[in-house]
Amino acid sequence: MKPGLPLIRHYLQFKDLRSEEYSYLFERTAIIKKRFKNYERYTPLVDRTLAMIFEKASTRTRVSFEAGMYQMGGSVVHLTTGDSQLGRAEPVEDSARVISRMVDIVMIRTYEQAKLEGFAAHSRVPVINGLTNAYHPCQILADLYTYIEHRGSIAGKVVAWVGDGNNIAHTWLQAAEVLGFTVHISTPSGYEVNLDVAGLRDTSCFKVFQNPLDACRGADLVTTDVWTSMGFEAENEMRKAAFANWCVNAPMMAAAKPEALFMHCLPAHRGEEVAAEVIDGPQSVVWDEAENRMHVQKALMEYLLLGRIG
Ligand code: CP
Ligand code: NVA
Repeated sequence: MKPGLPLIRHYLQFKDLRSEEYSYLFERTAIIKKRFKNYERYTPLVDRTLAMIFEKASTRTRVSFEAGMYQMGGSVVHLTTGDSQLGRAEPVEDSARVISRMVDIVMIRTYEQAKLEGFAAHSRVPVINGLTNAYHPCQILADLYTYIEHRGSIAGKVVAWVGDGNNIAHTWLQAAEVLGFTVHISTPSGYEVNLDVAGLRDTSCFKVFQNPLDACRGADLVTTDVWTSMGFEAENEMRKAAFANWCVNAPMMAAAKPEALFMHCLPAHRGEEVAAEVIDGPQSVVWDEAENRMHVQKALMEYLLLGRIG
């Protein structure tokens, strides 16, 4: 980086920001969301451009970043592996050097965390993780904001994770350590979280349960995700058999606190990782959760590009 240029902040995993920065982002999200709901124009990112690079499919991430950037006055470039030189083996470092000379901020959805980090290391502009095999920090940012909107602070609360020890689970663990809550985690044998990937300071922010019902007892929030994440499709049939008892159902929600919420990052498979009566039931906040992706990411882009406002 050239001397005199401001420090670039990337958002590659949840622990890249500190607890007080999350407090600030949640405050900004509330303001930005209220303006959006009132049809008030808020365009602090006029003349700024976001490049979105997708090497995997997406609905929510694409729409939330693209709509959010336009609402803030900026513009968006959408790239995929298939329609760019990324799919023809141009080195990620070269792609980063070029793309980051032309845009102001980059969002990447890819497979390996190392590829995202390689891009960020050669980027002149902030880079945001839009999902890798390891983490999905923007999702948990939205989930936390949704919890706070409905129930207040998550500090000291219990989040039950039922299902795969995947990118979303790793991100919940990091969030628990940064923000001071506990994750009750239940995964089938062979699908545990990878503690090297989670990268925690210690193991006090989570407890492991063999039985998913036990993980849900007394929980403030119950959450799950698909049994087969993108990139693992070849394992689909094997996973269906292994995960059969890890379906969030009414007895699991009944074991949680009466005021417990249900969340799912979506897309969901009713009858697999969650029963229809749970995801479509009164404790589910999945549509707020999906909408909040846009509001939190607007606050995140504002912060990474402009720093603290006021
Ligand atoms: N939750 C989420 O990231 O959804 P998409 O895969 O549709 O972006
Ligand atoms: N764990 C899922 C999340 C999708 C938003 C996946 O990586 O496919």
